[in-house]
Amino acid sequence: MDHASVTRRYQFAASHRLHSPLLSEEENWRVFGKCNNPNGHGHNYVLLVTVEGTIDPQTGRVTDVETLDRIVTEAVVDRFDHRDLNHDPEFSSRVTTGENLVRMIWDLLVKRIPAGQLEKVGLVETRDNYFEYSGDLV
Ligand code: NI
Repeated sequence: MDHASVTRRYQFAASHRLHSPLLSEEENWRVFGKCNNPNGHGHNYVLLVTVEGTIDPQTGRVTDVETLDRIVTEAVVDRFDHRDLNHDPEFSSRVTTGENLVRMIWDLLVKRIPAGQLEKVGLVETRDNYFEYSGDLV
């Protein structure tokens, strides 16, 4: 088999508050605890983007890493770094959980991969929290 994958690592710092408009104040506090604090809090997110593809016999690579870096920086890092995620239009009706964030990052990147295809997006939120999305399993 001549397939392989490459994973690139990126970082951004962002703040958020976990709060669902579909829940009451009491329910929000019960579900999200201190993450529902109205003042919000921040994370140093680590983003892992994995691209899978055929190893090009000429370059020995599965994708153009420099172009990938530019696209991830433009589409994701510049959008979220030093921002409040709750103010992003995409989160106007979604809770800023790691699950929703990792899925949104997938959607921002999946059609823009320079060569090969997006296999997985991973997001480290804290030492003990990691989220992952690989597209809809249809
Ligand atoms: Ni948080």
